[in-house]
Amino acid sequence: MKENQPHGGILVNRFDVCHQADQTRHEVELDDMALSDLELIATGGYSPLTGFLNEQDYQSVVEEMRLSNGIPWSIPITLPVEKNALTRIDIGDSVKLVKDKTVYGVLTVTDLYPADKLKEAVHVYRTADLRHPGVKKLFERPSVYMAGPITMIRRPQREKFGRFYLDPKAARDLFKKRGWKTVVGFQTRNPVHRAHEYIQKSALEMVDGLLLHPLVGQTKSDDIPADVRMESYQVLLENYYPQDRVCLSVFPAAMRYAGPREAIFHALVRKNYGCTHFIVGRDHAGVGSFYGTYDAQHIFSHFSDEEIGITPLFFEHCFYCKACGNMGSLKTCPHDKEDHMHLSGTKVRAMLVNGQKPPEEFTRPEVSEVLINGICKQNEKEVSQNT
Ligand code: ADX
Repeated sequence: MKENQPHGGILVNRFDVCHQADQTRHEVELDDMALSDLELIATGGYSPLTGFLNEQDYQSVVEEMRLSNGIPWSIPITLPVEKNALTRIDIGDSVKLVKDKTVYGVLTVTDLYPADKLKEAVHVYRTADLRHPGVKKLFERPSVYMAGPITMIRRPQREKFGRFYLDPKAARDLFKKRGWKTVVGFQTRNPVHRAHEYIQKSALEMVDGLLLHPLVGQTKSDDIPADVRMESYQVLLENYYPQDRVCLSVFPAAMRYAGPREAIFHALVRKNYGCTHFIVGRDHAGVGSFYGTYDAQHIFSHFSDEEIGITPLFFEHCFYCKACGNMGSLKTCPHDKEDHMHLSGTKVRAMLVNGQKPPEEFTRPEVSEVLINGICKQNEKEVSQNT
């Protein structure tokens, strides 16, 4: 496959705002993850998927990391529905996809099948441990999967990130307009710190443009909220990035925390957004100590470069070295680890919650300020809601 082509060759578009859903008798309720999956199928972010996976594709993705036609795909995109769907809905029926009384789309049922959750957990997450947030979520969702092609008729409200939404087609058009032949995508669900900046800028030395693509769909409750993260990116971009080489845009997917499997998924989806390269650093999309530091890089060797169709840029664990007076990694820095500044996410969060700025070498002060204010506002909101 030629580079920069959508995964599977064609950018899917499953929108039809004129579609009449009124004749459709049946409906199923979507959760947050299903609604964001619906939107990403419709916009082509999940090309070549045109709907939620049928049983054959599901089994194949779980076991082989491929759709049943052989195309690489590492995360099962499924629509869990309550068990009673089995008695009230038949194959061939058209079903409204509803959330909070709003109809977002329609699905034509091709398959209703039982989820194989234990197998899914062990293959996709490499664990069945319920302390893993992705596994917990998997087991909390209903146990029957409904499959079939979808049509999206209405988009979710875009209250928070209006101007930062860019569908795959619009992203591709923008890159073309800017004359970017090579674009590196950056996935993140965390506040931006110096190591992020270092790997982004190192990558930018090699390509024409950078797509900063923070994930803003559902994350676990102790992750920093997406609007605060987006604000921190904006202050950073204003002051430290070349405006004409960077595009900041939101990625509306839910986080799975599936580490290696999710790294492949993140790369394929960014290919659909028009990226030619994708950054995979240390413990990409990992959580706790469920994955090895570089598992998310090693997994790329399961596929040929051609079938992945986007070039992964692997980065070692980076840190600030006091002796170098610079960012680096074990690949580039000769000093002892006493000189290396390492701060865990938990420690940084604890500092921010206490209104304390992490060291400048770890996070830029402007960013720390946004994060402290954001966390403070969030805490005030929670207190007022609970009183
Ligand atoms: S993720 O869950 O979205 O992967 P995060 O926002 O922390 O989490 O990371 C975004 C990207 O930066 C990932 O590719 C991750 O591997 C990489 N990364 C984060 N911190 C470092 C670091 N210190 N050194 C190298 N890569 C890093």
